[in-house]
Amino acid sequence: MKHILEELEKRRGQARMGGGERRIASQHAKGKLTARERLDLLLDEGSFEEFDMFVEHRATDFGMADQKVPGDGVVTGWGHINGRLVFVFSKDFTVFGGSLSNAHARKIIKVQEQALKVGAPIIGLFDAGGARIQEGVDGLAGYADIFLQNTLASGVIPQISVIMGPCAGGDVYSPAITDFIFMVKDTSYMYVTGPDVVKTVTHEEVTHEELGGYRVHAMKSGVADGAFENDLEALTQIRRLVDFLPLSNREGAPVRESYDPSERLEASLDTLIPANPNKPYDMKELILKVVDEADFFEISAEFAKNIICGFGRIDGATVGIVANQPQVLAGVLDIDSSRKAARFVRFCDAFEIPLVTFVDVPGFMPGTKQEQGGLIRHGAKLLFAYAEATVPKVTLITRKAYGGAYDVMSSKHLRGDVNYAWPTAEIAVMGSKGAVEIIFRNESDEAIAEREADYKARFANPFVAASRGYIDDVIMPHSTRRRISRALKNLRGKQLANPWKKHDNIPL
Ligand code: HXC
Repeated sequence: MKHILEELEKRRGQARMGGGERRIASQHAKGKLTARERLDLLLDEGSFEEFDMFVEHRATDFGMADQKVPGDGVVTGWGHINGRLVFVFSKDFTVFGGSLSNAHARKIIKVQEQALKVGAPIIGLFDAGGARIQEGVDGLAGYADIFLQNTLASGVIPQISVIMGPCAGGDVYSPAITDFIFMVKDTSYMYVTGPDVVKTVTHEEVTHEELGGYRVHAMKSGVADGAFENDLEALTQIRRLVDFLPLSNREGAPVRESYDPSERLEASLDTLIPANPNKPYDMKELILKVVDEADFFEISAEFAKNIICGFGRIDGATVGIVANQPQVLAGVLDIDSSRKAARFVRFCDAFEIPLVTFVDVPGFMPGTKQEQGGLIRHGAKLLFAYAEATVPKVTLITRKAYGGAYDVMSSKHLRGDVNYAWPTAEIAVMGSKGAVEIIFRNESDEAIAEREADYKARFANPFVAASRGYIDDVIMPHSTRRRISRALKNLRGKQLANPWKKHDNIPL
């Protein structure tokens, strides 16, 4: 009996060594942890249970029959994050570069299917060279099966991808379907085709970093939702994110005990809005003063910074916050900010996370670049996302809410449940100056200045909208947290369903 138990330990030991000491040392030399070290940091101590540790590939071409490593380049299983169940897979770059064989794919699909059945998030850690080149079409089949599972699970369980090394070819599209992608700075990159292929096809010479590093995806393309300094920071932050999320769409957002009184008043908010309407201020200050203990997990912080999206808690319950940022491009809505916020709003709605929207928006970004880039369709995404969302929606206009952007930003007209404004709000078709220059374009400069003052007095305030019932109340800035908290509490019983449909046709 003893030798049988020893045999099991020996086999486990072999599997845990992955591609061997030399490759593990090379992984460490690149500043990266191994697949199993990463899971140790991601999951609660002692909670990880591994599946399929002894799975091997079945390829025979190119001498593969003699090159088998138990586990075949991916570590899969389940574990806990702060006591809550999650399913995981972690690509092992030390085994055939983490490349995907059919057996490797089957391991991932097994945890995907279980996560969906049980109703728990799945987190994938990527560090891989794409399809196992020696396997051919079986690898492609494996990828497609994974993509299918990702798609079926979308909106049912949260899916999170962390890119911690190369992520090339077939490996990029599974993360792309998941809810959030995070990268590790300088050690990770993502692209469909690498620098060599790019050179052959387009004659461009680019580095991995220029083609798909975090500066590309977390700052320009918006493919990634954030980037962290190193493996440790990335995994610690993913634990923090998971704490905000429900396990599945069956559960509703998690609530945890809060020691931050919901009645807390913030006198400093009374002076947040500068006297000059063209002067920016930091919308993050408002967010941090409203959420519990100033704890805010921002999504896509470095991309489309003119809009802020992220998770916070009010009275211990998770809320999704969307806010225009007057500090960047005056908080205007453009293609990127509309795409970013629309995706976030849809995530919150899919997982029953109430939405809190802070509005200070001068309108949509004018210009040929925006129009040629499809601002109409991209802007419509955000409009559509807010309109279809049935979760509790609380909106506060702090300053500007001009034109179509007023409608878009969770207005009453898109079924906003409770819409507040600060006394500093200006709810109008456009800014006073632009408005009078159009209506009175032939008048003298002095006359126009007079008209502007008149227009401002009449329309640049929240009271016209409030008199129509488009704003439910004009509130004191210092009582914002108290009012939002009360609104969210009173909205807990909200029931609203959209008409039956197979699915909608959001302007993609
Ligand atoms: C098999 C692979 C591999 C792969 C890497 N390795 N990629 N083995 N299939 N796709 C192996 C290497 O042979 C090497 O083995 C080990 O992993 C480490 O690789 P290195 O090249 O030494 O590492 P590094 O210099 O860090 O470069 C990493 C890399 C590079 C940039 C990812 O390995 C690379 O370009 N790989 C190929 C990428 C690719 O073209 N993949 C196919 C994409 S097509 P040893 O034994 O020396 O340790 C695809 C189609 C799917 O994915 C489409 C579905 C929709």
